[in-house]
Order: sequence, then structure tokens, then C-alpha cells
Amino acid sequence: MDSILIKGGNSLNGNVRITGAKNSALKLMAAALLSDEAVYLSNMPDLADTRFLSHLLRHLGAEVHSNTETGCLQIMAANLGEPEAPYDLVRKMRATFNVLGPLLARKGRARVSLPGGCAIGARPVDLHLQALEALGAQIKLDQGYAIAKAPDGLTGANINFPFVSVGATEHAMLAAVLARGETVLSNAAKEPEITDLANMLNAMGARIAGAGQDTITIAGVDSLHGIDHEVVSDRIETGTYAMAAAACPDSEVTISNCQPEHLEALWAAMQRSGIEVTLGPNEVNIKRGTESLKPVDIETAAWPGFATDLQAQFMALMTLADGASIIRETIFENRFMHAPELSRLGADITVHGREAVVRGVKELTGAPVMATDLRASVSLVIAGLAASGSTSISRVYHLDRGFQNLEANLTALGANIRRVKN
Ligand code: UD1
Repeated sequence: MDSILIKGGNSLNGNVRITGAKNSALKLMAAALLSDEAVYLSNMPDLADTRFLSHLLRHLGAEVHSNTETGCLQIMAANLGEPEAPYDLVRKMRATFNVLGPLLARKGRARVSLPGGCAIGARPVDLHLQALEALGAQIKLDQGYAIAKAPDGLTGANINFPFVSVGATEHAMLAAVLARGETVLSNAAKEPEITDLANMLNAMGARIAGAGQDTITIAGVDSLHGIDHEVVSDRIETGTYAMAAAACPDSEVTISNCQPEHLEALWAAMQRSGIEVTLGPNEVNIKRGTESLKPVDIETAAWPGFATDLQAQFMALMTLADGASIIRETIFENRFMHAPELSRLGADITVHGREAVVRGVKELTGAPVMATDLRASVSLVIAGLAASGSTSISRVYHLDRGFQNLEANLTALGANIRRVKN
């Protein structure tokens, strides 16, 4: 298995260009199943997760052509075959489950394996299933599969989510756009990826109002047509490079092709820590001097709060602050697996349930560490860049799921980082 070797201590300087958002791209790809015309996605990231979903779409009968040089993906789902997503094509990634709704809408039935994904807590799909049932699907769970049918089609419904779920909101939208009548989603997720999905579906002929707000209203339509759509930029990748620059004294990095307005909670926290953050229309400039960082408490929350997908990176940053900070994780149980690994580099972190107390240390020292999930692994990269000496990170396949050209981008900024093939 590959590992990543970092010799820490360099400052980072220059420009890094952000790709399209993984978390949006995966749902837009699932949405392409809703039309029998071609969907062209540009600004596509080229990641293990998007390649994995491409395999599944091909298995379902879609034609998928990817041009990784131009960042374009074409999906043509005119002739869908048997609506079955087997365990092997679903288990690695939770977002694959979102094909269930579009398959039901197009074919009236589907058999989709229950998903896998990052090991960050139980992560059930009960809200997804309840939403589909509210739309008239009959679903039974059998031997690890959701077997669903809606012989007479799906019908609009009022769905009130008991708590905010990004995946369930997207799944309900994907199923409701072709349902008969009106669907109202209350307590819906408001993430920029939800708005991106609604924008694409509306451009395909759907009638969705209120995306980005608590209540989304969907008037069902008979069919959706093809479209060219540019994937929204990846706010998590943006925030990750921002925190990499902030972790390395004497750094100045401009992050381009991004939408900094999607990350207000992060910028506020970084500014409180003493980092200079300058926002432009499609870029953000991050400046870290040689002074030490101030400790800042954060609590993760649904958008527009502090993103749970940036919590591990922020913890890496706070390990070197001048004092103690408290990091509270409210979205996922068990999302502090990076804490013991950061401690191997010399960080002082105590975890009590959903709260971690991070007491800043004077320096981190390189060590062998292990990636445990996608965002946790990139927090180890950030810590390794800031540490003195060498850090080797194993199990980097987690990183490949969500970060395109990570080593090349960081090398271009001045980091000493390379992949060791095994
Ligand atoms: C998506 C993102 C992930 C991000 C998360 C929260 C993708 C591919 N992944 O994940 O990177 O960290 O949003 O911003 O877009 N839950 C249930 N039952 C359900 C669904 C969710 O109990 O049916 C729980 C989850 O276990 C979690 C919470 O709800 O504790 C929020 O999860 P959700 O917003 O659904 O996250 P994902 O869509 O899985």
C-alpha cells in the first residue's frame, strides 16, 4: 500500500487551484440517471470516489466517458439495464446509495446494497429510506440490500426531517423531481452542494424552489432533459489548503477557482487565531506570519456552521496554538480518530465523548502515523507539514478518495512531500 512521506518545516508560498466538489459531483452523477439525454459535467474532480461511482453507473447501463485532462465527464443513461447495485460496487462509498431514488423514479424498482464509506460512526440510511417511503416506495431490507418498488410511480409528499441530513435531503430531491405532484422537504440541509444539485436539476427541467433554505418545494415533472453543468468548487479542499498554509509559519498562499463565501465559519475561526484571510471574488489569500497561533474553540454544525469535514484539519492547526482550544463534534459520533495519530506527533489532545481539548505544544515531531478516514488523513498531512523531521502516513488510499493531486499541489507550494509506492 502507498504511503506519503513528508519532511516538515517548510513554509508554503504560491497559488493552488481548487477542483470541483467531490460531494457535489457524486450527487450530480447520480442525478444523470434521471434523464435519458446526455449530462455533461465540467470542473469534475478526478478522484477514486468519482471513478468508483462511474463504475457503478456503467454497471447500471449508463455510458460514462471521462476526460481527466479537461475535467469533463459525460453520462448518458438512455438505456438503463437491471436496476441493481451490488455490494461490491457500493460498499466502499456511502454516496453510491443515492442511486436508489433515481432508479426508482426511472424504473419503478431497484435493488441497492446498503452502503459503506468512511468509518466515522454508524451512519445509517434510515432517513433516506423514510423519505423514499413517504414518496410511495415500498422498501424491504433483505441480506444487506434495500429492495424497493414503486410500480405506480412516486407521489409527492410532505417530508419533515427530524434532523438535518445532507444525503437524505439530496436523495429526497433526486426521487421527488419525477414524482407526481408536490413535495415539501422541511428541516432540509442547506449546504452549497444541495444548491448545486437543485441548480442542475432545474436546468434539466425540474421545478425546485428554496434550495439553500430550510424548506425546499419540488413540483414533480414528467421528464428531465440533458444539460451542461459546471460542478461547484470544493469548499473542503479550499479550507484544507487554507489550513495547510496557516499551519506553516511564514507562508502566503492564494487559493483560486474557489467560492470563499461558502466558508465563512472557517475564515472567522482562522482570523480569531491570528491568520490573515483576504477574500476575493473567486479566490482567498491566506497569510501566516511567524507569530504563534491563538487558540480558538469551534463546534461543528450543518452549513453555514463550521463544517465537520474541516474539523480534523482545524484540530491539527490548534495542536500548535499558544494555549488550549476545545473542539466539539456535533454531526458524527466517533469522528476523533485522528486525535491519537496527532498525539503520535507530539500533540496534547484529550477526548471526552464529542469534545476534544487540544493543548497547544511548542512543536510537533515527525513520526509514522496511519490515515483512518478521508478528512482525518489530510489532517495528518497538515500536521506533518508543520512538524520537524519526517512523517510517514500509511493507508493513503483514504486521501485518494477526496484530494486530487495533493502531493503535486503541496510540492508546488514548497512542501517536501512525496508518495512512496509499495
Ligand atoms: C455528507 C458528506 C460528508 C459530510 C456530511 C455532513 C457526501 C458524499 N458526504 O455525508 O462528507 O461530512 O454530509 O456535512 O456528501 N444520519 C442518520 N440517518 C440517515 C442519514 C444520516 O442517522 O439516514 C446521521 C449521520 O449518521 C450523521 C448525521 O445524520 O450523524 C448527518 O449525516 P449526513 O448529513 O446525512 O451526512 P452524509 O450525507 O452521509
